[in-house]
Amino acid sequence: MARIELKNVEKAFGKVEVIKPLNLDIEDGEFVVFVGPSGCGKSTLLRLIAGLEDTTAGTIEIDGKDSTSMPPGKRGLAMVFQSYALYPHMTVRKNIAFPMRMAKIPRAEQKRRIESAAEVLNLTDYLDRRPGQLSGGQRQRVAIGRAIVREPSAFLFDEPLSNLDAALRVGMRMEITELHKRLETTMIYVTHDQVEAMTMADKIVVLHDGVIEQTGSPLELYNRPVNLFVAEFIGSPKMNIINGEQASGIDAYKIGIRPEHISISTQSGLWKATVGVAEHLGSDTFFHAKVEGMSDPITVRTDGNMQVDRGSTIYLSPDEQKVHRFDSQGIRI
Ligand SMILES: Nc1ncnc2c1ncn2[C@@H]1O[C@H](COP(=O)(O)OP(=O)(O)OP(=O)(O)O)[C@@H](O)[C@H]1O
Ligand SMILES: [Mg+2]
Repeated sequence: MARIELKNVEKAFGKVEVIKPLNLDIEDGEFVVFVGPSGCGKSTLLRLIAGLEDTTAGTIEIDGKDSTSMPPGKRGLAMVFQSYALYPHMTVRKNIAFPMRMAKIPRAEQKRRIESAAEVLNLTDYLDRRPGQLSGGQRQRVAIGRAIVREPSAFLFDEPLSNLDAALRVGMRMEITELHKRLETTMIYVTHDQVEAMTMADKIVVLHDGVIEQTGSPLELYNRPVNLFVAEFIGSPKMNIINGEQASGIDAYKIGIRPEHISISTQSGLWKATVGVAEHLGSDTFFHAKVEGMSDPITVRTDGNMQVDRGSTIYLSPDEQKVHRFDSQGIRI
């Protein structure tokens, strides 16, 4: 179990400041997700915590102890990467045992930990196979098993599921969440997928250009994004952002309304619109509409069985309670 505190942590590669001075507290046993677009610094931040990169400035404390200059092996953390990096010639059992052999852990204890990890990860029947005889999801579980047997005080995951197909990703997502509930160990999980962040995290850290834009629970970020960046990044389909002077009836520099918070009527409503392209997902329908006086189309989410004919006139009404307002700096009002 570990509590991790970053204080004014900063990282530059040459002249490029990849992580601007930031502060972050990760509580013992918490599941924290770092999310943000490609290149925003997620992996770098994780590698700083792991000790795989040196900080340019600031301190990293693990359980109250300054660990800034501590070598990775001494930090008690285990990292799981996107590429599983399993040894192809070794069985699953030997792959999982590998870090324990390096650490010269007694045989009997190795066996106990392997069996316990295999049980947690549903790998018991595969211990004598080689990685080439496993599916992608099973291989990823072996990589996690190798981290579990080290009994780390925290797990660090860097996009561990991005090599898997969509269905397997959803399954593994739940398995990792389940694993966290069982082990109650601190986990830090990096992803660029906001759905993964929303479904797995106790706490989400939204990164953008090396800066933390917002930290909060999934619903805090969804309900009260502090700025335009978070507003547009969290939620799918993304929030509609409308110039204040074009959004008749609502005042602010920019206003935001999520596609699921707009009601539709063929009779009357705040905004008169023409229906454009519709996307039928079965469970929902997303359609795009051109509102009179607005430059950008609005996306609306409706019931999957709703029939809306392209080119027809409809009226859209944003739910007043769910409207987000932003100033000229993009900050929530
Ligand atoms: N060793 C390095 N030397 C120079 N620049 C680097 C180095 N490692 C990363 N960077 C730069 O730092 C920035 C952040 O990289 P990082 O790998 O942390 O991004 P990321 O958020 O993990 O992105 P992705 O989602 O694509 O994995 C990028 O602009 C990258 O080019
Ligand atoms: Mg990365």
